[in-house]
Amino acid sequence: MKWLEEQRDPNHPHICTIERIVDETPTVRTLYFHDPVLADVKPGQFAMVWIPGVNELPMSVMVSDVGGEAALTVRKRGESSTALYNLNVGDKIGVRGPYGNSFEIKDGQILLIGGGTGLVPLMRLIKFANPSNHITVLMGSQTKNEVFFEEIAKKLLLNKESETEHKIITVTEDGSYGEKGYVTDVLEKLLEEITYDAIYTCGPELMMYKTVEMANKKGIFVQASLERMMKCGIGICGSCCVNDDLACRDGTIFDGDHLSKKSEFGHYHRTKSGILEGI
Ligand SMILES: Cc1cc2nc3c(=O)[nH]c(=O)nc-3n(C[C@H](O)[C@H](O)[C@H](O)COP(=O)(O)OP(=O)(O)OC[C@H]3O[C@@H](n4cnc5c(N)ncnc54)[C@H](O)[C@@H]3O)c2cc1C
Ligand code: FES
Repeated sequence: MKWLEEQRDPNHPHICTIERIVDETPTVRTLYFHDPVLADVKPGQFAMVWIPGVNELPMSVMVSDVGGEAALTVRKRGESSTALYNLNVGDKIGVRGPYGNSFEIKDGQILLIGGGTGLVPLMRLIKFANPSNHITVLMGSQTKNEVFFEEIAKKLLLNKESETEHKIITVTEDGSYGEKGYVTDVLEKLLEEITYDAIYTCGPELMMYKTVEMANKKGIFVQASLERMMKCGIGICGSCCVNDDLACRDGTIFDGDHLSKKSEFGHYHRTKSGILEGI
């Protein structure tokens, strides 16, 4: 069986059957399926997910505590994500990959800041973090109903060897749960008191833009995972470009000092037809 996995061509869709589904919020759910290759991806890597008869979408790979099991956490938005969200146990999807680079995990005090499904690669980052890391997780959402992964983050942090306690800070825009405001407001306050060794971010691009700006100003190592329209996922079609970088091939993770030279980061992305559009 193992040699079969080793022989697997990452560029051909591998057909998987959804085995269980967990509702995270009224609009977000996690689909679990057996796939030893995706179960083992590095933090930050993604897969191209084929929803038969509908489309193929790039998706981060969620952790599972079951060996050999991979997962996708999907928010119901437009046509394709809703079709993925609406799949049932027993339905099939195709997965290509894993693709993309991974977070470079530094030693010492690290901060993970994310919002919505941007938290998916950050959960895997916790799993891969070093024993030397003291980890703070800043989780943002609009309102209490949309908070998810808090329990998973707690569990992952509990499993880490560490001499100090890790920290989870939940932030909602309307203040219905945790701290009130934007995650970046809380980050700004934290940066006045603590000098982190590294910051990692994934989520809405404006949040990542502010995070990168703040970290760069303080000279803190920062990496952001960019989401773009992706058609091929393998550096051919150009739909995922950020200036002259291709998010699928050169990222999706980029260092903050590199991003600070990219005029499109935080300002523009490309639509399905390739038109540059404001974020
Ligand atoms: C690396 C990466 C990881 C991601 N991880 C997650 C995740 O873990 N969970 C999650 O919910 N979302 C994730 N996304 C976003 C996801 O791929 C879709 O963009 C999002 O679900 C919106 O899809 P939609 O069908 O609702 O699109 P709409 O907003 O309805 O867009 C219209 C149409 O455009 C096309 N389209 C939209 N987005 C993309 C895209 N990124 N690439 C190719 N075609 C697209 C589809 O045909 C879609 O029907 C990720 C994106 C990237 C690039
Ligand atoms: S998605 Fe085609 S080049 Fe990146």
